[in-house]
Amino acid sequence: MRIVGFSGSLRTGSYNTALLRAAQQFVPPSGVLEIASIAEIPLYNFDVENAAFPQAVSKLKDRIAAADGLLISTPEYNNSIPGVAKNVVDWLSRPPDDADRVFRGLPVAVMGTSPSRFGTVLSQNAWLSVLRTLETRPYFEGRLVIPNAGKVFDEHGAVADAKVLALLATFVAGFFEFARGQTRQGAAPG
Ligand SMILES: Cc1cc2nc3c(=O)[nH]c(=O)nc-3n(C[C@H](O)[C@H](O)[C@H](O)COP(=O)(O)O)c2cc1C
Repeated sequence: MRIVGFSGSLRTGSYNTALLRAAQQFVPPSGVLEIASIAEIPLYNFDVENAAFPQAVSKLKDRIAAADGLLISTPEYNNSIPGVAKNVVDWLSRPPDDADRVFRGLPVAVMGTSPSRFGTVLSQNAWLSVLRTLETRPYFEGRLVIPNAGKVFDEHGAVADAKVLALLATFVAGFFEFARGQTRQGAAPG
């Protein structure tokens, strides 16, 4: 099982990137969680798409199309999806006649953390309409909403809270199990 994950934050000290890295320790022995960088994804522009489709987007599309699932670690901005993160998925859905190859039937899990008391719950909800539009298979059997991020991670970005680690372990194991149970056209065998 090969899952591709990206963090919807560009900042070096991102809590959501730290959460995604921490998730790797709970991947089952037969699986892998590859972390994809979104740093090279440009701002979406139809003119750019028409003139020269960005290589960074093509590469990420191919990685996800060949994967068994996608894990999005999302921040929350103004009670919704940060533009940086939404921009990535908007690019990945282009051109429309290639969107099925990337997203249709794709198992997708969303998790997130923020310094507030609400821990990205509204951002995670906002992702649902996007995931439905793209005809993915969202993972609904678990939820990972981590509030008070400032107290959860240590200065190296490691999860310093045993309860959060346990929640993360359950979430990651559950998502891999869910993804294993799905059959995707276009995903590479193995
Ligand atoms: C423009 C902006 C809007 C924000 N809005 C929210 C919000 O609605 N809810 C929330 O919990 N945190 C909000 N925050 C705080 C972010 O959760 C915080 O910056 C967090 O560290 C971002 O995730 P990251 O650490 O992965 O970069 C906002 C931050 C910015 C810059």
